[in-house]
Parts: sequence; C-alpha cells; structure tokens
Amino acid sequence: MCGIFAVIGSREVSPLLIDGLRKLEYRGYDSAGIATIDNFNKDQIEKLNVTKSKGKLIHLSNLIKKKPPKGHVGIAHTRWATHGKPNEINAHPHLDSSGQIAVVQNGIIENYRDLSESLKTKGIKLTSETDTEIIPHLIGLEIEKSLANGLSSNEQTFLKAVQKVLTLLEGTYSIAVIWSQVPNAIVVAMEQAPLVIGFGEGEFFCASDTPALVGFTSTFLPLRDHEIALLTPLGIELYDNEGNRQHRSPSLLKGTQLLADKRNFRHFMLKEIYEQPETAQQWIDRFLPMDLSSGNSVALPISKSTLEKIEQIQILACGTSRHAGMVGSYLLEQFSGVPTKVYFASEFRYAPPPLSPNTLTIGVSQSGETADTLAALRMEKERRGATKDANYAFHQLGITNRVDSSFGRELDNVIDIGSGIEIGVAATKTFLGQMLSFYGLTILFASHRKKRTPQEILDLSNDLRLIPKQLTDLIKKHDSLSKEIAHLFAETKDVIFLGRGINYPIALEGALKLKEISYIHAQGYPAGELKHGPIALLDQHVPVVSVAVPGVVYEKVLSNSQEAKARDARLIGVSTNGPESEMFDELFTIPKVTEWVSPLLTVVPLQLFSYHIAAHKGLDVDQPRNLAKSVTVE
Ligand code: M6R
Repeated sequence: MCGIFAVIGSREVSPLLIDGLRKLEYRGYDSAGIATIDNFNKDQIEKLNVTKSKGKLIHLSNLIKKKPPKGHVGIAHTRWATHGKPNEINAHPHLDSSGQIAVVQNGIIENYRDLSESLKTKGIKLTSETDTEIIPHLIGLEIEKSLANGLSSNEQTFLKAVQKVLTLLEGTYSIAVIWSQVPNAIVVAMEQAPLVIGFGEGEFFCASDTPALVGFTSTFLPLRDHEIALLTPLGIELYDNEGNRQHRSPSLLKGTQLLADKRNFRHFMLKEIYEQPETAQQWIDRFLPMDLSSGNSVALPISKSTLEKIEQIQILACGTSRHAGMVGSYLLEQFSGVPTKVYFASEFRYAPPPLSPNTLTIGVSQSGETADTLAALRMEKERRGATKDANYAFHQLGITNRVDSSFGRELDNVIDIGSGIEIGVAATKTFLGQMLSFYGLTILFASHRKKRTPQEILDLSNDLRLIPKQLTDLIKKHDSLSKEIAHLFAETKDVIFLGRGINYPIALEGALKLKEISYIHAQGYPAGELKHGPIALLDQHVPVVSVAVPGVVYEKVLSNSQEAKARDARLIGVSTNGPESEMFDELFTIPKVTEWVSPLLTVVPLQLFSYHIAAHKGLDVDQPRNLAKSVTVE
C-alpha cells in the first residue's frame, strides 16, 4: 500500500527520494510524488518544489530527470488509491492553501469528511478527493494561530502545530510533513501505520518499511503508536502523544530485512517460488532439528502451561495467510484433535463468535501489518481482557515473516517463519513458511495431548524433513511443463479449482494466485460442492484444475473430476502418476507422499501455472494492478 520516504541531510535529495520509493514499489501503488524545500535558490526564498505523476515510478522519475527539483530536505510517496481516483491531483504530497506545507500520508483519516466541512466553513478550498489534503490545511491554520500569538517560525512551532492537528485526526495513519519556512526539519508521526526512522551519516531518513532504507543505512528505529518525531540534519527528537521526550536505542537491519535482488530471474515471484526448498530447509533446521532434546517434539515458542490450558484454537487471517490457516486448522483438528476455527479477520472483528474458554488465538500475516488482522487481534484482546476471568484470558500467537512489524511488537508470542523478504505481491514462499509453522504446532499439540503415537509423530516429522528435496525436484520438473501448459490456457476467461480435505485450501490458493496475477476469473471449491451449483458453469471453455492426492478423499475427488470431464471441461490434474491420472488432459505429477504433507507440494505447480500464464500475457507479475503487498487499511 502507500509508501512514505523522507530524507534530510546535506545532499540533493530528489534522486534519493526516487531511490527510496523504488524500494517501496513492491508494496503496490498507482501514483507517486515528491516535495522538496529549495532553500538555496538565487532569490533566497524558501519554496516547495512538488512533482507528481499518475502510474508507475518511471513517469515521476522521468519528470524529475527533466527538471530536477532542488533541495536537501524532501518527502516522497507512492499512493494506493483509497479516496479518489489514481490521478495526479490526488497523488501526494498535498499542500495547504499557502503552498508552504506539504504532507504525505499512509492510511485512512476516518473523520476527514467532518474535518473538511469545518475547513470549508473557514473558506478553505480543497482541490483533491483525498482524505489526506485536510492535514496540510489544518497544520497551516495551527501555524497561522501560533504566529498570530507571537511565536516565530521555528522547529518547535512546526512540531507543536503538527502535534495539535494529530489530536483532531481519527483513523490509522502515518505522515511526514515539511514546511518551507522551517527548511531544516521534517515532522513525522504514526498511528497504527508503520514508520521507521533511519540514521545515516549526517542525514536522516524516514520510511514506511525497512527495505527502503537499504543502501542508505542499516541503523533504524521503528516509531511506536502515537509517537511524533522531529528530524533535522543534527538529529532526531522523539515524543509520545503527551509531549514527553522518548529515548530508545536504534536496531540494526538483519539480512532478511535487506532488499533482495532478482538475480537472474525474470520476476521476483519466480525467484521466490524457486526459494521454497530453502525456506523449508531453514524452517526444518530451526524448528525440527534432529537433535531435539527428548520430550520436545518441535522447537516452537509455546509454553508448557499454554499447551496444557488450551482447549480450542481460533485463527484470524486474510487472503493467502487465511488459506495457510485453513491447512493448519485441518491438521490441528484431524491430526492433533484440537477443535480449530478459521476466520476472515475482516469479518471476525465485527461479528465475533461468543467467547470460548481456554482458547488460543493465532494471527497469521506475512507482512505483520495487515490492518484487518491487527484490528481483529486487538479487538479480541480487548474483549477477553474485559472479562477479567482467567478462563477467557487472551492466549496469543502470531505467525509472520516480519517480526519487526506491528505483529512482532504487539503480540507476546511470535513464530518467525524466516522466509526472507518476499517482494512479489503474490505470496508464495511465505505461504509455505506459514503452512510449515502449522505443521510444527500440529506436532506440538498432538504429542502434548498424546493424540498420536510417538511413531505417528515421528513419521510426520520425517515426512517433513523430505520436503525440501521434493520441492527442489518438483520446481525443476514443473517450471517448464507449466510454461507449456500455461500457453494453452492463457486466453481462458474462467477456471474452476477443486480440492477436498486438506487440499481444499490449496484449491482456494490456486484460484487466488491465478486471479491476482493473470486477472483470469478463478474460483476454488470443495470438489463435492461442484454438483451443487458450479457445475452449471462448465463447458469446453471452462477448464477445471483438480488437486487429487491419494488419501481419504482421493476416490471422491476423482469422481468429482469425472463429473467435470463429462461436461466437456478440460481437466488439469495435480496428482500422483498412476492409471487413474489418465483421465486428466494435462497432469502435474507430485511424488507419492502422505496426504498430511501433500499441501506443501500440491501448491507449487499451481503457483508456477499462474506465474507462467501472467508472464505469457506480459502482465506486471510482481506488482499486479490494484493490489498491495501490505494491506494497511481496513
Ligand atoms: O500480509 P498478510 O499475509 O496479512 O496479507 C494478507 C493478504 O492480503 C495476502 O495474503 C494477499 O491475499 C496476497 N496478495 C496473496 O498472494
């Protein structure tokens, strides 16, 4: 979603701002802009230079190359449209009426309608459709008041004016502000939308996410909720919302926080698909090492007392993370015997189930910043806290790829899936890491509850240990095959994905991947549901992808696939090789594994299939239209 990048120092900042924005491109956006303060021009008049453009960063970068805006202080933004179309007027930065104050914002100002009405009554004309534009106007009015009261145009007046305006705003947001009359300062603030400050040599940075800092500095400080900071070339002043000065030591960027490069791959998504064996191996080395001390089945951060108390589990997540949660729920119920429910985080918040006792709430999010998931977790914490009954206490666990995120800061226990930064908007290796974490939890609960024999648990662990090698072979085998098959289906308009049991979430994930990056309509169904409605859609133009793995529902899935074939649908199978697989027109074979571990493999051909269709169509695979990597608004 929107990205903020800001720099203050002694260098010309416009190329740095573009560079920072480029590193935030992966978040998804549809317009971009920068503002700098030019205080070294020949007229000795401090003025704001603002350049904005619709579409990709290259357009903005070309404008800037033609006419480089001068200045050693600047703010920049990539916008993912929420209020108003993606066009130049709605692109950030937004200015106040005097044209001296510029603001970029990430998030949503929920009470912007009321605030814009009150601005209109004061004669202020808003020029954009955004919720952001009210902020520079409000700051402008505050500054006017302060100056009328005899304060001078200095950093403290600037800081106080922004502080005052923050008390008027409702919503989740982060902002960066510059004022041309105080050309050596940037004020930044955050309210539930992440912002980090970077410490360079003689310069300071501010960004929505750590990858933007790579190449500039490896020392950073994440802002906390309700904090505001003043950045000058001499240092940082950090305050809480009551104006108390805060002091914290910065952290160092870890390898996984560094921006990955594409190496020789055409797209990040393909590279990330190829990285899955490594993701799996690293997960196994960390959580399922051969030398686990006796009594420990898996090295996950769950205390014995929590394990003893928990009677049921609820999983909150969105999109692909929810699909990982569904695989997890199947495993936790069917292998470990723990009743488990999965919720769309966005639905849970407004329609939570009645409180259940001794419940573990698991939030799953690769970014750790998904607003819907965070809001659902916060709501659950609050309503459980309100009961004051120990049976209803909030037992929490996060599963994320970004421990440096709001998830990491807000949740007491977090499993770091450690997949390494994922740039492609379509989640691939992080989905694998999330599923693996659920396998770990499954083993932990099954052994603790003595639901399975030690042999059964050992068998599952050993099957998991084979996954990295099987993934390597599978990717090698199916990359070129899926490329061939993808060419046959690139013009298709609708695709149905079928799966059952533990592979039903994989059917959903296959359909989501195809929709996201190839813009082909796709729907996943539990295979048994086909005859209850969706079968009406089938003919020779609607292919069916069927995930059929030997196990409890194998025969059933094959029969459901036959029903599709009988309606002339082209059948693509993800299955083991055998006489039954002859029914498929195209076949992605997977090795003969137990049904339990099969989702870790069946998803791979579906990722490659979607990838190659999108690449064949020449689409922007890594940054599909309208999508964002971190969905930081509800
Ligand atoms: O960062 P999260 O895992 O919380 O994101 C949740 C969804 O927005 C995300 O999985 C989305 O569906 C992806 N683009 C899937 O490829």
